[in-house]
Amino acid sequence: MRKGIVLAGGSGSRLQPITLPVCKQLLPIYDKPLVYYGLSVLMLAGIRQIMVISTPADTPRFRALLGDGISLGMQLSYAAQAEPKGIAQAFLIAEAFLAGDPAALILGDNIFFGGGLSEHLRNAVGRKAGASIFAYRVSDPERYGVVQIAAGGHALNLEEKPRSPKSDFAVTGLYFYDNQVVEVARSIRPSERGELEITDVNKHYLERGLLNVEVLGRGFAWLDAGTERSMLDAANFVATVEQRQGLRIGCIEEVAFRMGWIDGDQLLRLAAAYPTSGYGNYLRQIANREKV
Ligand code: DAU
Repeated sequence: MRKGIVLAGGSGSRLQPITLPVCKQLLPIYDKPLVYYGLSVLMLAGIRQIMVISTPADTPRFRALLGDGISLGMQLSYAAQAEPKGIAQAFLIAEAFLAGDPAALILGDNIFFGGGLSEHLRNAVGRKAGASIFAYRVSDPERYGVVQIAAGGHALNLEEKPRSPKSDFAVTGLYFYDNQVVEVARSIRPSERGELEITDVNKHYLERGLLNVEVLGRGFAWLDAGTERSMLDAANFVATVEQRQGLRIGCIEEVAFRMGWIDGDQLLRLAAAYPTSGYGNYLRQIANREKV
């Protein structure tokens, strides 16, 4: 059974002082904590066993927010990363949790939105061997991991924050791996900045011809809430789409309901925890409208 990891730690230094009392991934993007967006993506991929990894100070806060997951028909567990020593360290921290199963990892500050996401996720979940990454065209690829894609769609080259990017395709913070990933993470060495780089894990798969790339097209939105400006932009984006459609993005209770993990009565019970908020009203609306 594939298992999921939400990596939601880091130093938060780029957002200080707003990250002094609480980490970035617990801050709101419009109507919900940032971590809901990433968590809901793993849920849409059908992953019900998820470990949230954060800082020693914030891990209890995630547990207080999300609990054991049972009310969503899931199993959520938590682990602390003592220091932010790299994204790939998540696999070493989660080794016992993964217990030899294939894995998916999402960065807790990434937001994905667009038609066809579920299909891309199904493609990645369906691959039994190798790794899948998701590429997205950006105007500032030098800020990200960058993938060069060949005409046939396979990856040619990967670089972490290159000065002169070979393509405009950023590697997003969503990764799927086979059950070799812990071994691969163990085999890589810290980079110059002292981190176990996820790009080095991906390079390992690339060199063995085992790296698949799903390209998220221009009809897609991929946002990372890394700066105060991008947090505001993401909040405005979510507000605009939600207002227009009357549907919420990244609503974990709704996703659990649509995945068939909880029924309408359970959705109403979850909504009862929020008797006066718009979010609670939305859950009630979904449950009452679509209850069978
Ligand atoms: O967002 C996608 C990008 O994420 C990729 O394109 C890059 O290849 C990848 O290296 C990463 O780049 P960032 O510069 O965004 O990485 P950053 O160090 O900011 O970490 C991303 C998130 O993961 C951030 O919210 C903090 C968290 N994190 C990071 C590290 C290094 C941890 O929780 N623990 C860590 O040890």
